[in-house]
Amino acid sequence: MATMKEKRSCGQRCEDFGRFVWNSDEGKFMGRTPEKWVYISLYYVAFYVVIAGLFSLAIWTLMYTLDPYAPDYQDRLNSPGVMVWPNTYGEEIVEINYNTSDKASWMKMTNILNEFLEPYNDTKQLECNKYNCTKGKYFIQDTFSAPHHTKWACPFMQSMLGACSGFDDPTFGYNCSMPCVVIKMNRIINFLPTNNTDHVPYVNCTVLEGQNNVDKIEYFPECAAMDLSYFPYYGKLAQPTYVNPLVAVRFRLVGEKQAKIQCRVVSKKISYENFYDPYEGKVIFQLKAVK
Ligand SMILES: *[C@@H]1O[C@H](CO)[C@@H](O)[C@H](O)[C@H]1NC(C)=O
Ligand SMILES: *[C@@H]1O[C@H](CO)[C@@H](O)[C@H](O)[C@H]1NC(C)=O
Ligand SMILES: *[C@@H]1O[C@H](CO)[C@@H](O)[C@H](O)[C@H]1NC(C)=O
Ligand SMILES: *[C@@H]1O[C@H](CO)[C@@H](O)[C@H](O)[C@H]1NC(C)=O
Ligand SMILES: *[C@@H]1O[C@H](CO)[C@@H](O)[C@H](O)[C@H]1NC(C)=O
Ligand SMILES: *[C@@H]1O[C@H](CO)[C@@H](O)[C@H](O)[C@H]1NC(C)=O
Repeated sequence: MATMKEKRSCGQRCEDFGRFVWNSDEGKFMGRTPEKWVYISLYYVAFYVVIAGLFSLAIWTLMYTLDPYAPDYQDRLNSPGVMVWPNTYGEEIVEINYNTSDKASWMKMTNILNEFLEPYNDTKQLECNKYNCTKGKYFIQDTFSAPHHTKWACPFMQSMLGACSGFDDPTFGYNCSMPCVVIKMNRIINFLPTNNTDHVPYVNCTVLEGQNNVDKIEYFPECAAMDLSYFPYYGKLAQPTYVNPLVAVRFRLVGEKQAKIQCRVVSKKISYENFYDPYEGKVIFQLKAVK
């Protein structure tokens, strides 16, 4: 049978392989001359260098166009949301219900407030926000003159909440019918709530239901204002020690001791009638004290 393969010994195969690796007759290494190997290697080295170069260029261009101090995808949100503390959600809206004669019930509210106010601790604020801010004026900062290449932030201290600071009354009024709530407006980078000549933004709370059950509404700090020196906010990286200005509101509940309240931050550039976002510019909550 002519087609039958000639049987080769193991030794012969090894020899063949050896000749493939190094063929001394033709001066070839693995089927190519050393020169050719050098050219091929150089070709691939150059190829990968170019690929790596293009890749780095792309990354660099991307990084260069990103501003590390601003979010890259800021959605269309241009009016800030408003929140209330204690933030105890009920079915739909925030429901601040408590029982003045049940310590566990009102302690729940005071614990929420104490925890929320922790960053506003006077000692802490005086330590990390040392800058002397000028009240009544936007704190525009074009440079990064604060330590570690950051911008300054104005201190807001718990004590500025007066009767609602928890200092004189550690129960925040929850052991009786004068509960305090804290209103906070969300941060928006570079947002200025008014034109300089306008009034400062302030909180205005109105009773939507149960007008007869609210005898008095008091605001802290005075005038319920959010001072302009807390604006604009430059972002977490630029202003790591920034805290939102707060307004505390104390209600004196009488009669049935329950009411539906709306607190709005009033300012030219803060809208509050967005059907799709009920928390834009305002917050509505139920307040109810039982015995
Ligand atoms: C309020 O708490 C007191 C003491 O725990 C309790 O006797 C009373 O029934 C509570 N009131 C209501 C309306 O739940
Ligand atoms: C503020 O912080 C200091 C030091 O950490 C602490 O001693 C003090 O009790 C805190 N004050 C309040 C009101 O929590
Ligand atoms: C802020 O003002 C106080 C007193 O007016 C002064 O002692 C302090 O050095 C000032 N701090 C800065 C950072 O300017
Ligand atoms: C509520 O607590 C404050 C401060 O601890 C106290 O002065 C006040 O008498 C208390 N009120 C009631 C009704 O227990
Ligand atoms: C704020 O001022 C700018 C120009 O200074 C003006 O174009 C803009 O309409 C003003 N906005 C409001 C809300 O008054
Ligand atoms: C607060 O809002 C109510 C209702 O919109 C209004 O009547 C009242 O004048 C406002 N108060 C202030 C100080 O703007």
